[in-house]
Order: sequence, then structure tokens, then C-alpha cells
Amino acid sequence: MCGIIGVVGADDALDTLLEGLARLEYRGYDSAGVALVRPGETWRVRTAAGTESVAALRDACDGAPPGFRSGIGHTRWATHGAPEAVNAHPHLDCTGRVAIIHNGIIENHVELRAELEARGHVFTSVTDSEVLAHLVEESRRDGLELTDAVRTALRVVRGAFALAAVDAAEPDVIVAARRLSPLIVGTARGTTYLASDVPAILDRATNFFALSDDEVVRLGPEGVRAVDLDGAPVRLRSLAIDWDLETAEKGGYDDFLSKEIHEQPDALRATLLGRRRGDGQIAFDELRVSDEELAGVRRVVLVAAGTSHHAALVAKYALERWARLPVEVDISSEYRYRDPVVEIGTLVIGVSQSGETIDTIQAVREARRRGARVVAVTNIVDSSLAREADAVVYTRAGLEVSVASTKSFVAQVAALELLALRLAQLRGTLASLDVENLVRALEATGPLVAAALERAGEVERVAAALAGSRDFFFLGRAAGFPTALEGALKLKEITYLHAEGYPAGELKHGPLALIEPGVVVVAIATDPDLEEKLLSNLAEVKARGATVVVVATDDDESVAALADYVLRVPALEPLLSPVVDVVPLQLLAYSLARLLGRNVDRPRNLAKTVTVE
Ligand code: G6P
Repeated sequence: MCGIIGVVGADDALDTLLEGLARLEYRGYDSAGVALVRPGETWRVRTAAGTESVAALRDACDGAPPGFRSGIGHTRWATHGAPEAVNAHPHLDCTGRVAIIHNGIIENHVELRAELEARGHVFTSVTDSEVLAHLVEESRRDGLELTDAVRTALRVVRGAFALAAVDAAEPDVIVAARRLSPLIVGTARGTTYLASDVPAILDRATNFFALSDDEVVRLGPEGVRAVDLDGAPVRLRSLAIDWDLETAEKGGYDDFLSKEIHEQPDALRATLLGRRRGDGQIAFDELRVSDEELAGVRRVVLVAAGTSHHAALVAKYALERWARLPVEVDISSEYRYRDPVVEIGTLVIGVSQSGETIDTIQAVREARRRGARVVAVTNIVDSSLAREADAVVYTRAGLEVSVASTKSFVAQVAALELLALRLAQLRGTLASLDVENLVRALEATGPLVAAALERAGEVERVAAALAGSRDFFFLGRAAGFPTALEGALKLKEITYLHAEGYPAGELKHGPLALIEPGVVVVAIATDPDLEEKLLSNLAEVKARGATVVVVATDDDESVAALADYVLRVPALEPLLSPVVDVVPLQLLAYSLARLLGRNVDRPRNLAKTVTVE
């Protein structure tokens, strides 16, 4: 995982690279670098300054010599080699003329490095990526032009990559390629760009194209030329982009995280828009699976990572209750390696905001290999996951920049619950009136989330009271359990405090031993059917000195007696309530993170899109 950018033929090449890198920092920010090329010269600068690496790079580029019109840039999330400048990209070959940037992992780098060293190459970093620079160098030495040199290098590497190479001997050219890692190309009059993601070049390019796996593209004075690994010409897929730069920026909020938390009502609205036909049937325009096929589903397996996994866990309750289907939820990175059973009628749903999480892509690939039908639920149109799947449902939450996922969670829950209701319709497991009422209730969640957001001030006061606490346990039952997991994840991601999510009933099987004065227990108590049981769990922790915070519905007075603090939310059908209940938990994590002076958009050690296993 890393962000890459390139530009050919721009008077402001360096600014283009630096601005683009600033917008790609969500992909990693351990270190950053650029390489500019002109005839006979490759000029490279690299910095490693933790979360400030791109800012440090800008300073380091202050004395850049003028006259460069092409170059490449990289912001790194370390996999092989410490996050130090020496391991930052671009990497150079032995001549110092070839420079490469790489996102992904070269799995056979150890063998390749040994072979290259035996042939006299000198490595200056401990990264897997540097082998690419030396492989390209060898082919250049053999007289191949840059495109053929990159193609030849890619024949011997195994793994995942989005890479770009430049050579001062061909200074107006960038050659780039991808396998499993995202890469797009942009064009504008006389200038061509490439980037991991659209926002990096959104203000400069006018037309956008996506590379598919094993495509190699040459950006040069003649424009953009794409070939496959055998050198045969291919046509790049054109991308329709309907975002503007404003969307990609903070829109008046202090940070992307609060902007995205407050965008949740809109995200829900967009996700649910136009999904109900006049006859009451739920319709997903983009879902290319026939009703007959959906009606034939016998079992559902959801695979996902991080926050998306928690949304998938909520969906399990909905699919079982409404569509009466057996459901399994697995963490993507586990699914692939556990020899999963895929029977006829198994529907695998891959859930991923980015659509680029490698574990989830590999999991659905494995499921397809074993004969499953695969649906992707993703936020990114034409993402790798969308293309891997037989069909896709888009969450339409809008661009999410902050590393910690918020609006994507509510959008994923809404999309998955709507899919559950569609399956219930097709299977006849719910009366049509019940389906209609649930769809309407789902459509009404936007204003309820907005109402929960209006209480941010109350949450801030609770956060201030809890500011000195170090340990948090989040408890819930049924759909409140994944909500608890998500609350704990948000807290640990952005505050670095210890937080765990537990099914409330499991408390007495271990975690209770950790409860003592000073520990905070946050309980999601919005399901009236389960409230009594949850209250007993709270009595257990209260008796052991914990500080108790309860998320409770507006009309519920019974929890107040046990709670030190109550976070109120509007009441909702329990299976839909995670989209509302999660709001005070996001706000609590956000407020505590601000009080602790954390960088809420770019938490340490994490990245938005994890494209390595
Ligand atoms: C990373 C991000 C999380 C995200 C997870 C899954 O860990 O930091 O916010 O939930 O990846 O990402 P996906 O794009 O597959 O939903």
C-alpha cells in the first residue's frame, strides 16, 4: 500500500507531484519522495518524517533546479524495510538514471535480489521494490526501450504492483503497470498523469482511464499507449468521474473525519436512493444477477476486513431474520486459507469501502474459484473488487478520505440490509407490508442519524469526563454487538487507547477479570428485547467499579439508574439501529482523540486502503 503519482509534459511538474502526494497520503505517509527527469539527469529527493513526510518533502524540494517537466512521486506505507528515507521511493538503478516507484509487494524479491547482486548490482535499500529498478536497468542495458524493459521485468516478478518507471535517457516518458494494485491515468491538453487514485490529479486531468491487471502504459509526447504483457496494444477503460475537488477537500470541517461523520445522513440517502420501484419491489440497477439466481441462494457468506467486517456482521442478523438464510461472516484474510466449503447456492458477498483491500479481493477470488457467485458491496465504482465480482452493489457514500471509516459503515449496513430485504422478497420470507415498512424505516434513517449528530455537544461533555481513562470495553447484544466492535475499533484507531468490543453475555467468561475502577464500559442498550439481560451485565461491571456509559433510546429511563453517563439516540427497529447507535460512538472516539491531540485523519501505523496481505 502506498500512493503513486506521475506527470509528463507539465511546466509545474514538481508542484503537480507534491500536491498529488498530499491528496494520496491516506494511502500511507511513513515517507515520501519524488524523482524528476530531464535529458541525462534524474533528480531525486526523499524524506521520512512520519505523518508529516509529504510536508517535509515539500520543504526538501525548495531548492529544486528548474526546467523539469516530467517526474514521479510516492508516499509510502512501509512493508519491507523501516520507514526511513533510505527505503523511501523512488528507487534508483545502479546508473542513477532509472527511477521507479512501486505500490504492492514483490513476493520473490529475495531470489531476484540475490540473482541481481550476483550479476553485480548494488542495492541501497532493504525494500522489495528496489529489484524493479535493477531489472529495468538490465533490460535498458540490453537496448530495450523503456516500455519493453518494464514488460520484461514484470515477467519475472511475482506479487502485486502498481509501478511507474522513468529514465533520464528517455526523459519525456513514464512507463507504468499494474497487477492487483490500483492505477489510473489522466490526460489534459499536452500533459498526461498517472496516480493510484483520482483525487490526486482531479484538478489537473480532464479525462480519466483505468488500467487493468497486467496492462502496461506509456505516457509520452505522443500521449498514452497501452499494451499487455506481450506487447499487444490494449484499450484502457475510460472512467466517468462525477466528483469535484471540493468533495475531495474538507468543506469547512477541521478534518476529514468530522466531515465524513457529518456526511452520514447524505451517505444513507444516496445509498438508498431509487432502490424501490413503484410496485414495491426493491431494485438494484447495477446488480447484474437475475432474480431467479437470487431466489436460488441457499447460503450467504460475507467476507470483509476492518469496519466493513462489522457492517457484514450486522447484515448477518438481518439476512437470517428477514431472508431466513444461513449466514457466515468471515474476516477476508482468514477465509482464503481455511479451505472453505462452497456448495451449490452459496452467495459470497465481498464488502469493502475501497474495493481494493487485497485480502477481500483474494477471498472473493477464492470463492469464485470454488464455484460461488460473488456480489461486491463497495463504494468505489470500477474498483478491483467490483471487477472481480459477478455483480456489484455500490454504497454511494461518496469519497471517504479519513483512514478511520465512518460514513462507509452506515452506507454498507444500509446497502446490505436492503439486499437482505430483496432476498426476503424473492424468497417470500417476509410479508410484503413488512418489507415495505422496513424499507421505509431504512429510508428514514438519514434524518435520525442527523438527529444523533445534533447531540455532538453532549458526547463532547462525556468525552471530557472520560479523558483520563485508558481502558474501554464496548458491550452489545445481537446487532448491538457489531456496533460495539465498531465503537471499540474507532476508539483504538484514532485515540490509541485500549478498547475491546465484546458480546455482552461473554463478559463473564474472561473480560470481567479486567474490570476495576478506572475502566470504562460502554454499552449499547437500544434493543428493548435484550435490555434486561444487558442491565444485569452492567450491574456486574458497576459492582466492580467500572465507569458505565450507556447508549440508550430517547424514551428509555430504566438504564439511567445504572449509568454514569447516557448517550441518547432516537429509537429505531433494532436491526436498523446500528446506523444510529454508531454515531455517538464515532463522536466519542473523535472527541477523545481531539482531547488527546491525535491526528484523527491519519492515525499512526494505519492506512486507508490496505493493498498488501
Ligand atoms: C483499513 C482501513 C479501515 C477499513 C479497512 C477495510 O484497515 O483503515 O478503515 O475498514 O481497511 O477497508 P475496505 O476498503 O476493504 O472497506
